[in-house]
Amino acid sequence: MGLKLVVVGGGSSYTPEIIEGVIQRHDSFPVSEIVLVDIEDGKEKLEVIGNLAFRMIEKSGKPIKLSWTVDRKKALEHADFVSTQIRVGGLDARAKDERIPLSHGFIGQETNGAGGIMKAFRTIPVLMELAADVHAICPNAWIINFTNPAGIVTEALLTHSAHKKVVGVCNIPFNMRYSTAEILNVSPDDVRIEFVGMNHFVFGKKVYVQGIDRTTEVLKTLQGDGLDYSPANIVNLGWSKTFIESTGLLPNPYHQYYFQTRDVLEKDIQSFNEHGTRAEQVQELEKSLFELYGDPELQDKPKELEERGGAFYSDVACSLMDSIYNNKEDVQTVNTTNNGSIPDLPVDAVIEVNSVITGHGPEPIAPGPLPSSVKGVVYQMKAFEELVIQAAVTGDYNDAYKAFVMNPLIADEKKSKVLLDELLEAHRAFLPQFYS
Ligand code: G6P
Ligand code: MN
Repeated sequence: MGLKLVVVGGGSSYTPEIIEGVIQRHDSFPVSEIVLVDIEDGKEKLEVIGNLAFRMIEKSGKPIKLSWTVDRKKALEHADFVSTQIRVGGLDARAKDERIPLSHGFIGQETNGAGGIMKAFRTIPVLMELAADVHAICPNAWIINFTNPAGIVTEALLTHSAHKKVVGVCNIPFNMRYSTAEILNVSPDDVRIEFVGMNHFVFGKKVYVQGIDRTTEVLKTLQGDGLDYSPANIVNLGWSKTFIESTGLLPNPYHQYYFQTRDVLEKDIQSFNEHGTRAEQVQELEKSLFELYGDPELQDKPKELEERGGAFYSDVACSLMDSIYNNKEDVQTVNTTNNGSIPDLPVDAVIEVNSVITGHGPEPIAPGPLPSSVKGVVYQMKAFEELVIQAAVTGDYNDAYKAFVMNPLIADEKKSKVLLDELLEAHRAFLPQFYS
């Protein structure tokens, strides 16, 4: 019997990727119906994406029924998989998350520091509502969450909603594996990186190629201006030999915000003054993408989509759904409940970890205790994430303040209040929990 996939945030410019992923896997993952869902405000984009998706499916000749709607509840009926790629408040809200902290001399970023906290505050209540709908309407469906901050959002859902079939995904582990394969001149399928940590705060502990440990070689290429697996949105400033050698770990591109804070801040403030924030660049990029998408001759995902930092996200999500459906028991890196696999972290914490993907969901492969060099920061970041979730759920000012002041990129008792007040006000329309 065919499967039904519902894409929440279907009007996103990333959607052609998920459509392509479904088409390519159709033999093993027989989706027979796709519904793209969006909100009233996103109707225009949804229409453009819907028509492009329709042309892509038609070209493929696969028997997939496609529709698009703003009626989410109706769309969820009989769904098997629900993917979420929403951006509450749109790119305008992201621009504020980036601008406001930068204007006060702090990192202003989509998923890190004050910006990431605010994105979580806007997103968590909306996705909690979605999870409740899924639980009531299609209780057997899996929610595959792409929405950032993906790890925090996934943990919020798994710990605070009744629906437990939730997995979070990100393209960072995928990018790290692919770039490593390129450097070593081997197939990405043969590379396994042992990951430890959380989404956008994950480290690579070991690199194996067909079971052989090649970590040292990879670490060498990481030093200086070598191996770069940064997505399009992060400029790689390079890692020093000493940092790489002493930790013995592969950092992910987002670690620059924590271990090169001053340099990144300087670079980001400069580029903010010269060409605005990343959100503003993405708005331009989206404009040209949607122009391409609107061309009635276009029947494929255009190459230009790779200029978005999240390219390959959907490929990750499609492989995951395929493996869940087929009980493949292959290994993929996902965001799922720790369950003791990192003994230093809480059992119900969500971590980013290699997992065996079964029909019942991911089973983490224990990466073991945290490496001593990063134990402290990982522990601190997880505790901070818990504060974010708490505040997103309660809407309590003091809870929100705690998340701000305990974040290592803010960590200033007076400025935390300045930032929080300005950001709360700027996003007021999307933060009902703080204003009721
Ligand atoms: C990376 C991250 C994603 C994030 C994206 C931003 O790929 O893993 O979580 O959404 O970058 O890219 P953008 O093009 O929106 O700046
Ligand atoms: Mn990500």
